[in-house]
Amino acid sequence: MIELKKINGDNIDEVIALEVGEEQKELIETNNLRSFADAHMFNTDGIPATPLAIYADEVIVGFLMYIFDTLDYESFEHEVFYGAKSYFIWHIMIDQSFQGKGYGKLSFEQLLRNIESMPDGKAEYVSLFYHTSNIKAKTLYASLGFKDTGIIQDNSMLAIKRL
Ligand SMILES: CC(C)(COP(=O)(O)OP(=O)(O)OC[C@H]1O[C@@H](n2cnc3c(N)ncnc32)[C@H](O)[C@@H]1OP(=O)(O)O)[C@@H](O)C(=O)NCCC(=O)NCCS
Repeated sequence: MIELKKINGDNIDEVIALEVGEEQKELIETNNLRSFADAHMFNTDGIPATPLAIYADEVIVGFLMYIFDTLDYESFEHEVFYGAKSYFIWHIMIDQSFQGKGYGKLSFEQLLRNIESMPDGKAEYVSLFYHTSNIKAKTLYASLGFKDTGIIQDNSMLAIKRL
């Protein structure tokens, strides 16, 4: 069973110890410790951010972080979603030793169910960036209904799904 749990003094060391494969590091812009710090920074700035540990049958296998924000970046100006509220997936990872077992998909599905309950406020979209060479991530997101927007920043594609 997959569960998304809060990060606290009992599991923070395990969250930080989770690792992606060496060749995957160039496909992601961040790491768990940095994302956890970013979540703190966003919350301090008034942008709700939620870092969560991913558990499979009580064993910690991954980490994710999302924020509740407005799609108001200058490069989105001519898009239909410009100015809309969105849950933005900042980071998601499964430890290399637990990848390929379905945990990424199951945890992402659980995350989408959480987001659909609009925990931080009403939003029209859920969105994320993925590196254009990250075929595993691209396939996973497409299978869950995310559409590529064609907006590419630093080799990463913005993909979006209506809520
Ligand atoms: C991307 C990631 C989260 C997927 O987690 P996972 O547990 O390995 O993936 P799953 O076993 O749940 O597989 C999920 C889906 O990924 C896709 N997938 C998995 N392996 C794949 C491969 N070798 N090639 C293409 N697609 C693949 C499939 O769509 C699969 O769904 P399916 O089994 O129903 O076909 C994980 O590999 C990871 O942490 N990678 C490094 C960090 C990263 O890239 N994060 C995303 C940043 S945008």
